[in-house]
Amino acid sequence: MSQVPVKKRSRCPQHATPPPVHLEDPVRFPDTVLCLVEKRMGASRRAFLTSLARRRGFCVEGADSKRVTHVVSEGNSGDEVMEWMKRKGSCWMDALGSGPALLDLSWFTESMSAGQPVEIEPRHRLGVTIRKEEPEGRRQVAAYICQRRTPLAHCNQALTVALETMAEEARFCSSEGRSLAFSRAASVLKSLPWAVRRVQELSALPCIGEHSKKIIQEVLEDGTSAEVESIKQSERYQTMELFTQIFGVGVKTASRWYREGLRTLADLKAQHTKLSREQQAGLQHFEDLQIPVVRSEAEAIGQVVQKAVEQFLPGASVTLTGGFRRGKQSGHDVDLLITHPEEGQEVGLLRKVISWLDSQGLLLYHSSQRNTFYALEEQEMLDSSTSTMDRFERSFSIFRLDYLSGGIQRGAGSQEPGSIMSGFGATRSWKAVRLDLVVTPYSQFSFALLGWTGSKNFERDLRRFCKQEKKMALNSHALYHMEQKIFLAAASEEEIFQHLGLEYIPPEERNA
Ligand code: CTP
Ligand code: MN
Ligand code: MN
Repeated sequence: MSQVPVKKRSRCPQHATPPPVHLEDPVRFPDTVLCLVEKRMGASRRAFLTSLARRRGFCVEGADSKRVTHVVSEGNSGDEVMEWMKRKGSCWMDALGSGPALLDLSWFTESMSAGQPVEIEPRHRLGVTIRKEEPEGRRQVAAYICQRRTPLAHCNQALTVALETMAEEARFCSSEGRSLAFSRAASVLKSLPWAVRRVQELSALPCIGEHSKKIIQEVLEDGTSAEVESIKQSERYQTMELFTQIFGVGVKTASRWYREGLRTLADLKAQHTKLSREQQAGLQHFEDLQIPVVRSEAEAIGQVVQKAVEQFLPGASVTLTGGFRRGKQSGHDVDLLITHPEEGQEVGLLRKVISWLDSQGLLLYHSSQRNTFYALEEQEMLDSSTSTMDRFERSFSIFRLDYLSGGIQRGAGSQEPGSIMSGFGATRSWKAVRLDLVVTPYSQFSFALLGWTGSKNFERDLRRFCKQEKKMALNSHALYHMEQKIFLAAASEEEIFQHLGLEYIPPEERNA
């Protein structure tokens, strides 16, 4: 594990002071690994019992650790402990007996007074209901998206579409928490290798709240959810969906326009609504940007960018990321990541590439941001880990994709060879495509690749997992260990997963 020492921060002297040194308690019983169940025990009692056990030479680890041999709880049934362990990321709990032993606190107190693990007796064990009707594999769904494999094609399409409409509606109401709850429920269903047929099957799954359960039940019983259908029919939902599809328009702006009585794109134009340069471009190219970009188009744009990059910095690489890297055949934009093996060579590259593309008439709109991430510092890491925005040199632009140059295979929406239908019935030989370009220093490339591959749900949960389970902060630049106060370097995505103690999930299985 390569580690980069944290750069000391002069503005914040308390960070320069090293943390108090804790000599680890020597492990006397390496084959006995305890997990203490916080439910009913409470956090402070759990912390007290943990340090007591460690002082006596026992190992104590979290619920997600595969090393746990003895799960100790106070005042819970065996089923409750199973449920809690699964929620905390344990994916190997097994009612049939091959998982760790589920024990009452009496085993723990007897072991502490004996000064060594005592023999497990039947009276120590917690009983677990064995559900014979559920096939073995069905009960093992991990709590975090980044612990699961989520392929592009899955078996619960009707259910996830309904839940995602609920998530979208909640987002349109700025109810982020509610939106997240529906998105997480949808993600769980996307990861299941079977189709849910009965609402009873949901009880073994994490992240499915009461409201999600109700929506799922409606779809299972009636084929559609009345609540989802009425949302889809509502004027507010339809208007918000239309406005937020305009490049540069977020929920806040769309809500304001709705409150002002605006309902259509024609309204925006007729009312002379004040628009940013980005929004003007978004509105102007609205129809083109609605047409999905297909892989051959993304690859063609990648080649044009590669050519531009090569002119200014031979040896630089251009990588297609985002949905296409996850195996999608179409998407709403093209995401390209640019880097050069010699760190520092990439500085200033994006400006030159953008100027050249612009001079060739290939950009219909561009806005660029300089790299504002000068040094990896602790506070920076802690701040930016909470936001998905990173601080690379990047450009969110609109590319003019010409079908007459370079034999590009066209996507849906283009009707005749060498032409695409415009909204007014005329044909032309090009279409507007959203293009995101990001330039990254070589040492941050793996983090940028992981961060820009998505999906958004996968990334969000990966960062949450780091923070809540590993006391680490992850963003598209780096991985920082908050307790050890060190940056963990990684030359590949695999190494990042290793640092986090996660099984490697390939891009095609990050479609949460
Ligand atoms: N992303 C980011 N910072 C931004 C915008 C996007 O880190 N300012 C990341 C997102 O978190 C996502 C990835 O870039 O993981 C791709 O984003 P996007 O292009 O919006 O989504 P896709 O998954 O590529 O979906 P689509 O195929 O529709 O483009
Ligand atoms: Mn994309
Ligand atoms: Mn993008």
